[in-house]
Amino acid sequence: MLTPDLLDRAVELLRHGGVIALPTETVYGLAANAEDELAVRRVFAIKGRPANHPLIVHIPDEEYLPEWAREVPHEARALARAFWPGPLTLVLRRTSKATDAVTGGQDTVALRVPGHSVAMEVLERLGGGVAAPSANRFGRVSPTTAEHVQRDLGSDVDLVLDGGPSTVGVESTIVDLSSGAPAILRPGGLATEDIERVLGRAVPVRTSTTVRVSGSLESHYAPRAGVVLAEPHEAVQRVEALRAQGLRVGVLGPASLSLPTDVQRFDVPGEPAQAARVLYARLREADEQGHDVLVACLPAASGLGIAVRDRLSRAAAPREG
Ligand code: TXA
Ligand code: MG
Repeated sequence: MLTPDLLDRAVELLRHGGVIALPTETVYGLAANAEDELAVRRVFAIKGRPANHPLIVHIPDEEYLPEWAREVPHEARALARAFWPGPLTLVLRRTSKATDAVTGGQDTVALRVPGHSVAMEVLERLGGGVAAPSANRFGRVSPTTAEHVQRDLGSDVDLVLDGGPSTVGVESTIVDLSSGAPAILRPGGLATEDIERVLGRAVPVRTSTTVRVSGSLESHYAPRAGVVLAEPHEAVQRVEALRAQGLRVGVLGPASLSLPTDVQRFDVPGEPAQAARVLYARLREADEQGHDVLVACLPAASGLGIAVRDRLSRAAAPREG
């Protein structure tokens, strides 16, 4: 596990313009001191991400909210209290501390307290905010282990902290509380039902056309193989039809599927939270086997199943180039 020395080194790097890979409970982040514009620009360069896509600022705890957000509505407080540290990001009106480099020039900032002991330790020692998108190249599958990060980004990062596999496995749920009624900008590791229970009202999903949320580009989280979606009852039939076309087909789905014995299956359980935890690792493994097409079984559309279905749909969306 991580030695105190390594944590010291991570914090030193962040203090001096470094970019490090930081484990969180959702996915690994590519982290820079949020108050250091040059370091933040390096994050964009390493990811190959357009500079107008805003980043999430990770803070040590709820007490830091007023430093970054000039208004903290009571519903934001209620959600922070209920779910932080955890897989929830709040979009609020920014203070001047949240620079254009971080917010993509918007008047709002995305904030979250990650629920991972290593991330929390680093943030507490730094005593400030860390801007961190997922630690993958733009448009690719997010990393849920240190090894994934190493393979994607290698020596482009100054340090990779290994905090074990991410336990949630999909990115945080983003809730916009910056104006009007709350809305979900990206379904993620916190279920909508849990958010609605705390707020006592319905919270619709609103994927904005004006705010640039890269996770909401239609083709995102994309492996190299084609991805075909299937409800569990139709998966076997899909596989057979694709094989009849001469394609090499792999399956992402539960053990309960009765597949031909020569079809390679990558285990994605039907239970939504378990599916979320392993989804990205299985997509990577499956992609490395050189299949033409991956048939992905969809989990139930409730709880974290909404986020898993969202990511699989994006992986299956038509690609450019
Ligand atoms: O779980 C997570 O959220 C992970 C871990 C590392 O914390 N981070 C993550 O970052 O998924 P990233 O950059 O891959 O996705 C952040 C999303 C982007 O889609 C971005 O557009 C959106 O948050 N975002 C950031 N600031 C925003 C803002 N002010 N308004 C609306 N969306 C915003
Ligand atoms: Mg991402």
